[in-house]
Amino acid sequence: TIKGFAFDLDGVLADTARFHSQAWRQIADELDIPWTEALESGIKGIDRMSSLMLILNSKGVADNYSDEEKEALAKRKNDHYKELISTLTPDDVLPGMHEFLADLKANDLKMSIASASKNAPFILDKLQISDYFVGVVDPSKVKQGKPAPDIFAEAAKILNLPPEQVVGLEDSEAGITSINDAGEISVGIGDALQLHAAKINFPSTKDVTLAQIKAHLNW
Ligand code: G6P
Ligand code: MG
Repeated sequence: TIKGFAFDLDGVLADTARFHSQAWRQIADELDIPWTEALESGIKGIDRMSSLMLILNSKGVADNYSDEEKEALAKRKNDHYKELISTLTPDDVLPGMHEFLADLKANDLKMSIASASKNAPFILDKLQISDYFVGVVDPSKVKQGKPAPDIFAEAAKILNLPPEQVVGLEDSEAGITSINDAGEISVGIGDALQLHAAKINFPSTKDVTLAQIKAHLNW
């Protein structure tokens, strides 16, 4: 039976995917790299430097930049992103998620955070939801980011549960792959075609309920 939930943060709990996009888009504009739907969804879930590489490679210009220049671009994105997230309040918890977290807690289900973001603790604090979680994966301490299983595997360890007793929630393709390969039950939130590898799918955060998940899993 299911005993724990591992949450992605950006785009699942926090309305911050738009800020990642906005901050990267500004860098892309400066570098004359066209912003596309593929970039918009491709940067979801993958770490900061992988996002920059995806953007540079979309125009085949990654080799034009030294490692130092890439570090500087990634830092500039993060400085802009940090400005944007400094305005977050509890109202920026995505629709339905306050209720979902409270329901899980009332049912004694354990929760952890499986985000690739180094800004996750700051965001949880701003949203005032840190106390729901027994722990937050430190992405700088895992070998490989999403789509590798490491981050979701670590989130189950934090819960002290075997992966098959853990449900993972994600809005990105990379994240769904990470959940599935960690041996957990994947819940995709967003476009069902794009997140087709998810075991269960919800169009939006407001559709996610414990009752629905239980019904899908015959639990
Ligand atoms: C999340 C977002 C990605 C972002 C990554 C790293 O997974 O979905 O778009 O690149 O976190 O975030 P950071 O805040 O460390 O740059
Ligand atoms: Mg996400």
